[in-house]
Amino acid sequence: MPVDAAQLRSALAGRLPAVDPAWRAAVEAVPRELFFDGAFYRARQGRRGTEWEPVVQALIGDDEWLALVYEDSTWVTQIDGADADWNAGVVTTGDATSSSTLPSLVVRTLEAAAIQDGDRVLEIGTGTGYSTALLSHRLGEKHVTSVEVDRALAARAAAHLAAAGYVPRLIVDDGLDWRDEETEFDRLVATCSVRSIPTAWLWQVRAGGTIAVTLSGWMMASGLLRLTVGEDGGAQGGFTGEPVSYMLARPHGRPPRPTFFRHEGEIRAGRVNPVLLDDRAAHLVAQLAAPSAELLGSGDEVTLLDVATGSLAWTEAAASGDGWSVHQHGPLRLWDQVETALAGWQKAGSPPLSAFGVTVTPDMEQSVWMGDPDGPSWQLPA
Ligand SMILES: C[S@@+](CC[C@H](N)C(=O)[O-])C[C@H]1O[C@@H](n2cnc3c(N)ncnc32)[C@H](O)[C@@H]1O
Repeated sequence: MPVDAAQLRSALAGRLPAVDPAWRAAVEAVPRELFFDGAFYRARQGRRGTEWEPVVQALIGDDEWLALVYEDSTWVTQIDGADADWNAGVVTTGDATSSSTLPSLVVRTLEAAAIQDGDRVLEIGTGTGYSTALLSHRLGEKHVTSVEVDRALAARAAAHLAAAGYVPRLIVDDGLDWRDEETEFDRLVATCSVRSIPTAWLWQVRAGGTIAVTLSGWMMASGLLRLTVGEDGGAQGGFTGEPVSYMLARPHGRPPRPTFFRHEGEIRAGRVNPVLLDDRAAHLVAQLAAPSAELLGSGDEVTLLDVATGSLAWTEAAASGDGWSVHQHGPLRLWDQVETALAGWQKAGSPPLSAFGVTVTPDMEQSVWMGDPDGPSWQLPA
């Protein structure tokens, strides 16, 4: 029997974790297959690391295609900002620059924004247009504005949305900077992550309105944040604690990794176990302590590489078999920075991500705090 898209849609909506029934109804109503142009990329591990294999409806047939479309999976639609020649079937490498995010994550992000019927919502990162369609279904297209930085993607999203019967307001611009002087929004939802909160967002959302965004960085630690905008023009809020990641907004992306060599450098015994970085809160703390560093490796053997200065720190199991050694070279002592912050986190009882929050002052100083707004804190990069 041929696969029925409506049945698959309904099954997907039924599998979503406990969510507002209005979002479940939206997932049940919006045909996700209209948002792909008949193809996407699937990740696989190959000789060159992560490789992207095209999955093309015309090649695999409608049944398999629809079954994949209605998986609760993220399907990548663009690599390195380039248009794909799907039919060439070429497996490629590079960074994912757009996708249709897994529906359960989209819905959790929309829920984090505490959207109510009648709200005017600004979305940053239209992508395929799927989440814009969920918003349009729930709120009515007149209440939805979505900004996409990539012109070709925005044009395709407009066509997808029209095919699904929605005509929200679509803007092609840098959503970290775009402003509409005429409109105050009740909610802002970002489906790309940021290293710090863009000033424009605080001007664009009314006092008492909310911003749902994933705070991330160059170590790829991330957490979903719900901020409430204050009367004074600042904002404050906490992390939901859920395991959430979105691709970084393009202006906040990590610069290309420089060629690096691990030297012996200064060697000392480590005081904090590098395995701690597997914990999501510890990972965030490390990222806050060394915001321009990238984290490579895992377990006993991690490397921190500062893309701004070329400074390097790396750890390895100690030759004695007891503990681990730390090597550091370059202008910064990256492991010292990370270790001090992690020791502070441990001293505070190793609180989970949900114990952290963000304050943005009216003059746009931004910090992440641990425990409560007066607790230990780290400045976010400007
Ligand atoms: C994960 S995708 C969005 C998924 C999308 N909401 C969907 O349901 O298909 C992230 C999108 O954010 C866009 N983006 C990145 N930086 C941006 C920026 N500064 N302003 C607006 N859009 C941006 C990317 O081009 C990409 O299309």
